[in-house]
Amino acid sequence: MILVLNFGAQYAHLIARRVRELGVYSEILPCDVSLKEIGKLKPDGIILSGGPASVYEPNSPTMDRKILGLGIPVLGICYGLQLIAKFVGGEVLAGKLKEFGSRELIVKKNGKLLKGLSRKEQIWMSHGDLVEMLPKDFEVLASTDSCPIAAFENNARRIYGAQFHVEVAHTPKGTQILKNFVFDICKAKKDWQIESISKKLVKEIKKEVGKSSVIMGVSGGVDSTVAATLLHKALGSKLYCVFVDHGLIRKGEAEEVKNFFERKLNFKHFYFIDASHIFLEKLKGITEPEEKRKIIGHTFIEVFESKVLELEKKHKDIKFLGQGTIYPDRIESAQPSKYASKIKSHHNVTLPEKMALKIIEPLKELYKDEVRKLGKELKIPDEIISRHPFPGPGLAIRILGEITDERLRILKEADYIFIEELRKFGYYDKTWQAFAALLPVKTVGVMGDARTYEYVISLRAVTSVDAMTADWAKLPNELLGSISNRIINEVRGVNRVVYDITQKPPGTIEYE
Ligand code: XMP
Repeated sequence: MILVLNFGAQYAHLIARRVRELGVYSEILPCDVSLKEIGKLKPDGIILSGGPASVYEPNSPTMDRKILGLGIPVLGICYGLQLIAKFVGGEVLAGKLKEFGSRELIVKKNGKLLKGLSRKEQIWMSHGDLVEMLPKDFEVLASTDSCPIAAFENNARRIYGAQFHVEVAHTPKGTQILKNFVFDICKAKKDWQIESISKKLVKEIKKEVGKSSVIMGVSGGVDSTVAATLLHKALGSKLYCVFVDHGLIRKGEAEEVKNFFERKLNFKHFYFIDASHIFLEKLKGITEPEEKRKIIGHTFIEVFESKVLELEKKHKDIKFLGQGTIYPDRIESAQPSKYASKIKSHHNVTLPEKMALKIIEPLKELYKDEVRKLGKELKIPDEIISRHPFPGPGLAIRILGEITDERLRILKEADYIFIEELRKFGYYDKTWQAFAALLPVKTVGVMGDARTYEYVISLRAVTSVDAMTADWAKLPNELLGSISNRIINEVRGVNRVVYDITQKPPGTIEYE
């Protein structure tokens, strides 16, 4: 495996993903991980990520410098390279250079790291500091116009560095450089393949759970469905699945989910709990977004917990709580940033405190695209695998202001039409997410010679790779026209449809 140490980079995930794409397992850990921890993982190589800080700044992220002496190959990228330079006695100039974007790399010597690169290559830079000098045993391999040391290596000490970002698509030969490092330098084996993972995961689940049973909350989304299917494959009737309908799901979704788990997947124990009246009652009169989220989160746990307690009493062998947590979820919750402000409290099922259940998270090491591949391997239908993400609080955060029965009806119908048209025009799979939101204002219109005074529906469709940033989708006018026409004509209570053209940031994908 290849270990990635994270120094606060936007791209740390990308590095691990690129390595996995090469067929080698990779994990990310915070930069201050102990030598003992590293020893346990036995990595074939270590990659130091970039980061926003400057190596001489007080409190800038650092690592145990003994990592460089373990004899494990180390590749520093951007900040990682600067940190290596600082540790080995080189000179780093802070803020001397601001190089952002595409640059030309001049390769003076290929060495091991740049094997297969031409004399001039396009690369992508994003840094403010630069390394000006390195000790003599370090060989400078490449430079740019303004950066004298853009790549180096020291084969005897097995230390390597690239000032540019090898992990981004804008460095076309980046994959070649990673291959050189991972295979030629680290001698890692190509044995990470999602197909082989499926068997391994099933085996691990059986071993961990033993004779006990697992209970799990499912949402109908990709992660929890794949996790439940995997658990089912391993445990069969020893899996108990619970779906809590909070009444804020999309039109037709309840039937779809029931059908899927009961008929298609043939789960023996699938419990569909219609708790919509409890949720909607508690949400009456609530307009503040965070308050809505909190109510839904707490109520969800209450309802789920009471079902679990009931089942636990009947089936004493329930000892585990299954969860669909995936790798990025873990990384994000393991490293809450001191500096990041809270934008929204995301609602997901967490372990109810009263229960003495152990957690089992079969997907905890996988990225979303790997989960999707695994889902295909498990023969989960495409309509589930390629489903857009849907937030835990559901339509509650897409009806701005108070949630009423009428608003809920309007939104469900409008959203249904939007998605139906999107699929018809072949744009569903081209967008990351698409949905309708109800704005709690009324505008004047005219219909059949009469004045109308009705709600506004806002359509939101975005493209994104990870929901961290997003752009509004450039949908064809014809499609937008068709959606608008249908909503106005078919949904009672709406007389205006608008299209949201806000990027994230500064907007967020959801409205609340
Ligand atoms: P925002 O609105 O923060 O959304 O740009 C980013 C992504 O997260 C989804 N989202 C949630 N998912 N529980 C979830 O499981 C939540 O409470 C929640 N809130 C937002 C959102 O749909 C988008 O994909």
